[in-house]
Amino acid sequence: MAPRGFAIGAAAAGGGHHLEQDYPDPFTFDHTYRGVLAEHFSSLTPENQLKWEFVHPERHKYNFGPADAIVRFAQRHGQKVRGHTLLWHSQNPAWLNEGNFSAEELRKILKEHIFTVVGRYRGKIHQWDVANEIFDGDGNYRTSENIWLRTLGPGIIADAFRWAHQADPKAKLFLNDFGAEGVNARSTAYLNLVKELRAVGVPVHGFGVQGHLSLAFSFPSDMAANLKRFDDAGFETAVTEVDVRIPLNGGTATEEQLRTQADYYRQAVEACLSVRGCTSFTVWGTTNRYSWVPVFFPNEGEATIFTDDFRPKPAYTALQTALAKARR
Ligand code: XIL
Repeated sequence: MAPRGFAIGAAAAGGGHHLEQDYPDPFTFDHTYRGVLAEHFSSLTPENQLKWEFVHPERHKYNFGPADAIVRFAQRHGQKVRGHTLLWHSQNPAWLNEGNFSAEELRKILKEHIFTVVGRYRGKIHQWDVANEIFDGDGNYRTSENIWLRTLGPGIIADAFRWAHQADPKAKLFLNDFGAEGVNARSTAYLNLVKELRAVGVPVHGFGVQGHLSLAFSFPSDMAANLKRFDDAGFETAVTEVDVRIPLNGGTATEEQLRTQADYYRQAVEACLSVRGCTSFTVWGTTNRYSWVPVFFPNEGEATIFTDDFRPKPAYTALQTALAKARR
């Protein structure tokens, strides 16, 4: 149903919270799940398999097997791949966090990591979330939490983009964050940053809004307006990690909640479809069973577009209808 060139993505489940669940690695072992990824989606994002703690578990050791498998699967099924992520405050390995590295050493470590990881997938990963979640809700750098910003200062962002570009000159390089769907201090900080970076020749191509939404909050009705201001400034956009949490408090979702959820998904995809430079819409999970939401948001759940046995929920149908109607 998606218009030509518009990718519908899903996170490829594995690593992260999955490691503590009572099921084996979903992407590797769940045959039905793999079939769903292949059948319904035209883009994949490794959910955890390219994060530092997973792909670079020891200082001089990389673990590329799981990400390689996702990239191969994507190639076999004619899917695009989004790379996630190279510079973040979270999910960094202990050797990095606790290494007491000097600024000079850290810079070298980041540069080597980016050249190694981006270089390995040169020509195979079309968009990279180079930097993830670098601003807080007030639009200030997350300096105390982020090892790179704390030790090297915000100038390291530009270097990360330059290194990623050298490692794969054709890859589109993005910033990415949550809570930046609408027009607010955080999204404005990103708009200012991408303009500043471009003005000094840094290869930055786009901004991704994650789209972790909840029925506990109203839909960010200025999402289209926000994406449009990036579009107007000549940047690409993407909706990179959509899920819509339902407050459950131990119960199950009502029909009405599922309808409202469907409406949030619809509005989110329509916001993306409304701007020229927004060419992908990625959901962060397929079934509640594998979703990070119940693990990270104890009273919320059912945030995905399929039921546990992979039947389409109203949210799935709403996305399909919005895509079929899209004129672009
Ligand atoms: C989440 C994963 O889904 C979990 O498996 C993991 O335990 C924690 O991270 N924003 C992001 C994603 O950019 O990388 C996060 O993914 C969700 C929030």
